[in-house]
Amino acid sequence: MSEMPQKTAEMPESTTEPTTVPDPLDEAAIGVAVQNALAAIAAATTLDELKAARLAHSGEKSPLSLANRVIGGLAKEFKAAAGKIMGASRGRVAKALAARTEVLEAEDAARILVEETVDVTAAPRRRQAGARHPLSTLQDRVCDIFVGMGWEIAEGPELESEWFNFDALNFKPDHPAREMQDTFFVEPPEAHLLLRTHTSPVQVRSLLERELPVYVLCPGKVFRTDELDATHTPVFHQFEGLAIDKKLSMADLRGTLEHFARQMFGEEASIRLRPNFFPFTEPSAELDIWHPGAKGGPRWIEWGGCGMVNPNVLRAAGIDPDEYSGFAFGMGIERTLMFRNEVGDMHDMIEGDVRFSEHFGMEI
Ligand code: PHE
Repeated sequence: MSEMPQKTAEMPESTTEPTTVPDPLDEAAIGVAVQNALAAIAAATTLDELKAARLAHSGEKSPLSLANRVIGGLAKEFKAAAGKIMGASRGRVAKALAARTEVLEAEDAARILVEETVDVTAAPRRRQAGARHPLSTLQDRVCDIFVGMGWEIAEGPELESEWFNFDALNFKPDHPAREMQDTFFVEPPEAHLLLRTHTSPVQVRSLLERELPVYVLCPGKVFRTDELDATHTPVFHQFEGLAIDKKLSMADLRGTLEHFARQMFGEEASIRLRPNFFPFTEPSAELDIWHPGAKGGPRWIEWGGCGMVNPNVLRAAGIDPDEYSGFAFGMGIERTLMFRNEVGDMHDMIEGDVRFSEHFGMEI
């Protein structure tokens, strides 16, 4: 037996578990590695599985790559034979990989095409678009009319101090409206907080916060301890108007309200004032509107309260009543919606059924 020349150089180092490196001259061993590779490639059913097969069987750490690296260390006379075996073997694997890639990519594309098909004949899934609540659109409409006259919009807190809600508005300490049966007081009693019973406290807040003259419209939620029925709800909305300037008179109040009424109810609308009492206005009046489009024919409808701001209210806000005067008015938005749009039952306004809101369209 002749001396076999030293074939292999040192084993390529491996960081993972040692792989048995087939001898690049051992056609049978290399053949097994090729068969393993072809089997894994054929078994791959997704591009991810194929990637894993590529890494295992033709990646840097694969038996075939490791065997290939051995060639460099072989004695010269073995290099050509080993190179031929390895070249052919690795070529077969590369070819199989390329072919399988093509197949799987085509399958993938076909799958995506099916999955993402848009059936243009399918019935659309209808989504309820919703609608703004008619109380909101009515409130916006009222605001727009006053903004159109150069007034500003003012807001105040719903959780109000008793002083703003009553005292500053000239309610005497024993005024019946302060009773528990009308007002939601908030504990503890010594904090003197309540849920505002009307938007009138915003009058005083506006006067304290703003420079004179003041022309503000204050919409918002108010609260009273009423049971919910067809015409009452414990939470409802009002808008308050306040104008304080030099030499404002009852005629200005009348003119403003008449203009407002016509904007809301048409040119044939008019107003009338009937004497009434509010602690924060003097004189005070009940405001009626002649509603030309009323259900069952034109008629007078009670709309809200108004009057000339009581000098005591001006004083509470630090304003000299000899220099400034003004008027205020307040109406309920629910009530306005009821007779303007013939809503017979308050429940419809608060139940939130979109079929009720939709009926009003998207009018602003
Ligand atoms: N705040 C009164 C109420 O809620 C309405 C009103 C406002 C009256 C302004 C006169 C002036 O009934």
